[in-house]
Amino acid sequence: MTEENRFIDRYRTGNTPWAHQHPDFNLIETVKQRQIAPCKVFEPGCGLGMESIWLAQQGFEVTASDISLLAMEKAREIAGPLAKKINWVALDLMTDDLPEAAYDFVFDRGVFHTFDTHEERSILARKLAFTLQENGLWLSLLGNKDGVALRTGPPLRTATDIVLAVDTFFEIISLEVSVFGNEEVNPHKIWRCLMKKRK
Ligand SMILES: C[S@@+](CC[C@H](N)C(=O)[O-])C[C@H]1O[C@@H](n2cnc3c(N)ncnc32)[C@H](O)[C@@H]1O
Repeated sequence: MTEENRFIDRYRTGNTPWAHQHPDFNLIETVKQRQIAPCKVFEPGCGLGMESIWLAQQGFEVTASDISLLAMEKAREIAGPLAKKINWVALDLMTDDLPEAAYDFVFDRGVFHTFDTHEERSILARKLAFTLQENGLWLSLLGNKDGVALRTGPPLRTATDIVLAVDTFFEIISLEVSVFGNEEVNPHKIWRCLMKKRK
């Protein structure tokens, strides 16, 4: 079974431990602290869309995408009337092309980390740089190798994994240790990595 099918199947069977009820505080803090003004934002792997919905509520022009049509269908339902303001696009990040210089900001929560090989992570970084305008920002929230490995937990990556994949395309502005913003008592340790597209 391919990686794509694995995710599609997981939404079908409801095996989605990453699902959460409220927008992740890591996104909210970063947007506020870094004063990221409403702009064109792309969320790859939006899942049930909590963060895309929050961004649209703040006035961002949001494109939310996922490989799972079912996830996006559910996200649309959750968004309610706001769904009309969000551009929903089904795509496979590994095989589909992204538009050139179309966005100012990319946000991903738990998507960069799903790719197991350096090559795949590097392909994603290259594509995200391509779809960002000059000086565009990418905020990624991803599993941290120093966290506890659980069968049901996120893939865990090292700081080296991140740097090796992104350094050609992005300048790392900040790399902080945090936890996922969700309803768990002990949320997983993550990396909160803010990057700027290289010139
Ligand atoms: C761990 S989930 C995170 C979902 C959401 N961002 C969240 O935090 O709840 C990873 C998401 O990436 C999507 N995904 C995985 N591989 C993908 C690919 N190749 N192209 C597009 N989306 C993909 C999955 O369908 C899933 O929704």
